[in-house]
Formats: sequence, C-alpha cells, structure tokens
Amino acid sequence: MRMYDIIAKKRDGYALTKEEIDFFVEGYTNGEVPDYQASALCMAIFFQDMNDEERANITTAMVNSGDTIDLSPIEGIKVDKHSTGGVGDTTTLILGPLVASLDVPVAKMSGRGLGHTGGTIDKLEAVPGFHVEIDKSQFIDLVNSNKLSVIGQTGNLTPADKKLYGLRDVTATVNSIPLIASSIMSKKIAAGADAIVLDVKTGAGAFMKSLEDSKALAEAMVRIGNHVGRNTMAVISDMNQPLGRAIGNALEVEEAIETLKGNGPEDLTELCLTLGSQMVVLAGKADTLDEARQKLEENMKNGKALEKFGTFLKSQGGDERVVEDPSVMPKASKQFELNAKKSGYVSDIVADELGTAAMMLGAGRATKESEIDLAVGLYLNKKVGDYVEEGESLLTIYANQDDVEDVKEKLYANITISDEKVSAPTLIHNMVT
Ligand code: URA
Ligand code: CA
Repeated sequence: MRMYDIIAKKRDGYALTKEEIDFFVEGYTNGEVPDYQASALCMAIFFQDMNDEERANITTAMVNSGDTIDLSPIEGIKVDKHSTGGVGDTTTLILGPLVASLDVPVAKMSGRGLGHTGGTIDKLEAVPGFHVEIDKSQFIDLVNSNKLSVIGQTGNLTPADKKLYGLRDVTATVNSIPLIASSIMSKKIAAGADAIVLDVKTGAGAFMKSLEDSKALAEAMVRIGNHVGRNTMAVISDMNQPLGRAIGNALEVEEAIETLKGNGPEDLTELCLTLGSQMVVLAGKADTLDEARQKLEENMKNGKALEKFGTFLKSQGGDERVVEDPSVMPKASKQFELNAKKSGYVSDIVADELGTAAMMLGAGRATKESEIDLAVGLYLNKKVGDYVEEGESLLTIYANQDDVEDVKEKLYANITISDEKVSAPTLIHNMVT
C-alpha cells in the first residue's frame, strides 16, 4: 500500500477502505507517513468528505493508536457527557453530582487546557485541598462507592488525534466535519464510556457558528458513536451569550452550588436538566425523559444533589464546607460594576469576547505555562432580554488588579442595549438521536 495512492483516491472522490485508513493512521502515528502526505490527505478529506463507514473507521483507528481506559470494573452503565466548548460553561460541575445522586456512575477524566477560564479540574481546584492526583484503582473504587470521581488525563490516549489535530491546526483543515467528529469521538471512546451525551454548542461563542453546521457535526458524532456500539445522542444548545451568569473558576463553583440547590440561573439549570435527563435514561435509571427530569428536580430540592457534591469533594481532599460557605474559596480583592450607559433591553452579549475579558483578568490560560487566578472573573447581572436602567449594573467584575479600564472597554464594546423589547434567546435548538 502506498500513501500516494490513498491521497489520489480521496482526491478523486472515492471512499477509502478500512485497510487504507488504518495504514494512514498507524503510519502517521509512528512517523512513517510524513506530515506533507498527511496534510494532503486532510485537505482531500476537507473537499471530498467521508461516508459514515469511513468516519467510523478513522475514529476506531485513532482509538487504537494508543491506550484505552477500561471502565468495566465499575458497575452499571457509564455515561459520559461532552461539550464542544463555550464560555462560562459550568455544566460538568453540576451534572456530575446531579446524575450521580441518582446512582448513575460518573467516571470523569478531565483536563486543564487553554481557554477563557480553566478546565473542569482548574475550577474544582478553587475548592481548598481538592486534587485529582489519585491512582486508577482509587478512581474506580470512588466511582463504585460514591458514583462520582474526577481524575486527570492518564495514559497515552489517542496519540494519532493529538498529532493530526496539531497538523490540521496549521494547514487550514480543522474545519472539516468528518475530521472534527472523529477527533472528538475518538477521545470519548478511548476514555471508556458506554454511552455518550453530546452538548454541541452553536452561535457566536461556539466552534460552530451556524445552526446548520452544528447540526451536521452533531449528526456526524451521533452516527459514529452508534456505529461503534456506544449509545450516543446530542443536544444542540445556544452559545451566543455566555451560559449562566458566572465566568471564572471559583465563581463558577459557587454558581454550580446554587444550581445544585435549585437556585441557579434559568438557562444553566434548564440545560443541566435536559442533558442530565438524557444521561439518566441512557444509564437505565429512568424509563422516560420526563421521569428522569422529575427525579433530578427532586434531588435538587431535597438536598441530595448538593450532598453528593460535598461527599465527592471530600473524597478527593476538598474542603466540603464550601457547599454551605463558598467564601472558603479564593476571593478577589476588588469588585467593579459595569454600569449601563443608557436604559433599554439587553439585546446582545458576545460570549467569546466576554470570555476574553475574563482571561484578561487572569481567569484563563493564554499559554500552557500561564498561571490561573482562581478568584477573578465576571458575574452577569443582566442577560439578553432583560431591561436595564441607565446607571444600573450590567455585570460585576471580580479582579485582583486596580486598573480594569481595558477590560471595561472590551465589555462595553460587546454588550448591546436596544430601545426595542428583545426576548430571551432559544436555549435548546435541537436534539439528535
Ligand atoms: N475539538 C477537537 O477535539 N477536535 C477537533 O477537531 C475540533 C475541536
Ligand atoms: Ca456559567
């Protein structure tokens, strides 16, 4: 088999066989296929697309390029949730304890990563003492006994994807549905989940800006998952304005606590109940989505969801008092209000730009080496559709610096107030099964 022929075949619009895809993925991972041939093939895929069979095969080949996690010692159906990424997305912190409170096992492998705020692990580290340095057997034991544990990335998972994603990033081939879908799904499958709930974001703050593209990506991922025997479904949710009200690490933990108590922001609560219901049904802990939702709402009201969060934090060294008293977390030394310059209806809050503003305060990493300030961030007092009086606070800035003029300037430039009444945007656009 020759890489040249595989590239030419895809260039001319033909489907590649499993053997050809394996040859490419294995060869590229071990260095036998050079970057220039891999990038030529990615570009051919970008223009010619892949059919369902090819998409499933490239995903499986990437899964097989490295280690996989065996979660079989954990009892029950392991359901994982994956979000394609947004601003101020606190759902993982809430969904873990929420569904675990209904005995759905949650074995979560998480990362730190770059971005507007930290990853799930960074956020949890805002709780004093909490750590993810546990070994594999402890992780399994904790999920079996408490139904919830979070561990840092272990093992050499999907090295083919790591190398290929890096190459795509510099060859203008990231934005290809088969390549994105296989990249994301290979990581989820290698991490061992039996079933997968995807939260595909759409809008200005999302990877996919249009609803049409988001749908195509969601459908592609759902088909790959089901093709390789993992029960998969997707929710397409709005990411034009940030989700919830908090953007920042400790601030989001506090927001998660409020939401677990049933007092969270409306949109964040609704998305968690939607995704959570799907997880509970896939895990076989309820027969219908309505029944699942009812049970989740019940555990928010009766305190079981919050109690689960507390036991989980404690089991990994965290100060569980945080669930009663968020002030045990790092606190910003200064607060500034961003006051509305005119009265009217908030019509637009540009999610990714607000994320950048939070990063300017130090809430996220610009490079792998940057240190995160866990205390800083933004809290939205108004969201799209709300009425605001001139001089009233649109949002509160939590900072550890005296001068926030450049941050304020960025915020003002990305929040629009209109004279006409605006309704709150649709949160859940579609479900894909
Ligand atoms: N996220 C991924 O993990 N892979 C892609 O290809 C795009 C986004
Ligand atoms: Ca949030």
